[in-house]
Amino acid sequence: MKVLVTGGVGYIGSHTCVELLNAGYEVVVVDNLMNSKQEALERVKDITGKGVLFYNVDLLDKEALSKVFLEHEIRAVIHFAGLKAVGESVFLPLKYYHNNITGTLILCEVMEEFGVHQMVFSSSATVYGLQDCVPFHEGLTLQATNPYGRTKLMIEEILQDVYDSNNNWGIALLRYFNPVGAHLSGVIGEDPNGIPNNLFPYITQVAVGKLEKLSVFGGDYPTHDGTGVRDYIHVVDLAIGHLKALEHVLNTTGVNAYNLGTGKGYSVLEMIHSFEKTTGKKIPYQITERRSGDIAISYGDPSKAKKELGWEAVKGIDEICEDAWRWQSKNPNGYETKL
Ligand code: NAD
Ligand code: UD1
Repeated sequence: MKVLVTGGVGYIGSHTCVELLNAGYEVVVVDNLMNSKQEALERVKDITGKGVLFYNVDLLDKEALSKVFLEHEIRAVIHFAGLKAVGESVFLPLKYYHNNITGTLILCEVMEEFGVHQMVFSSSATVYGLQDCVPFHEGLTLQATNPYGRTKLMIEEILQDVYDSNNNWGIALLRYFNPVGAHLSGVIGEDPNGIPNNLFPYITQVAVGKLEKLSVFGGDYPTHDGTGVRDYIHVVDLAIGHLKALEHVLNTTGVNAYNLGTGKGYSVLEMIHSFEKTTGKKIPYQITERRSGDIAISYGDPSKAKKELGWEAVKGIDEICEDAWRWQSKNPNGYETKL
């Protein structure tokens, strides 16, 4: 069975391609490489012994996208393609709205034209916005605090409208908490451009000597040690969650949102200490001002995904640290490192 993966060259997409290929799916990837390197797909092949069919296509190019659907009998779509930097989205909102929303509209139009109605969509826990009760569950009122978050919220609503107009659609909205870690092989992983915005790639780049020290954003949050608490989920657990969601949309119609998280929160200091313990690398850090827009505590209630998809995260923070470090230490320059 052929599955189209948009954004399949990226961090979560490449890990999901590995799991799809291992499970016997044929994988067609559409990606314009605006935030990824094609080398990731070579490495997916090294891991699985199987290749994906790759198209360097922008979702905004409807004609080129339609050609992919003409050439392949696509049964379902896993839709990762999108821009994801919160800070950048504040300065370049139109770029984010155009790429993420128009890209999704065009994808849905083409899917409708070709009678493909099964989609797994990368949403984000960011759609919960500023909540003061944890764990977050799927029934909370949604809100967004920045343009990136609004694209996810709007796309969730658009997909609901698409289903309301044609009940043949089966759509899973996967709300990820904080994806981290890397494939056990250390061959694929997260390779951000420039200085990382997110905690984990920052920690690993300090450990490998590319960055001097970590700034811990805020030491005065109402948490047990004063630093922010998050739900860190191993990217391979997340990838497997996509396979479970795919099976679900292949067998049901409707729109369903699922939290993909562990249900546990860890503070920034706990993550630093776990990394130091499991890797033996010291992470110099200093506590600085809070980062604007951050909340104190975020973790999800993943019980709906367990009940309806039969999925739960199994990898803990020690495995996350070991795997992230294996990737970074083997690939100090990400995909530009020759293996
Ligand atoms: P990523 O940037 O590594 O992957 C996204 C891929 O989409 C990239 O390869 C990029 O080149 C491609 N892309 C972007 N716009 C495109 C377009 N118009 N046409 C074709 N390809 C396009 O990001 P990721 O971390 O793998 O995230 C995947 C998805 O999950 C994104 O939608 C992101 O918003 C969402 N998400 C990510 C996180 C996270 O922390 N990584 C958390 C929540 C949600
Ligand atoms: C961020 C985004 C969120 C997005 C998610 C994707 C913001 C405000 N939120 O979430 O919308 O869905 O990434 O992964 O950008 N931290 C430090 N020092 C650093 C980096 C981070 O102390 O150099 C802290 C943060 O304050 C936070 C925790 O580490 O408490 C995790 O931060 P990060 O990895 O950036 O993720 P989120 O902020 O949770």
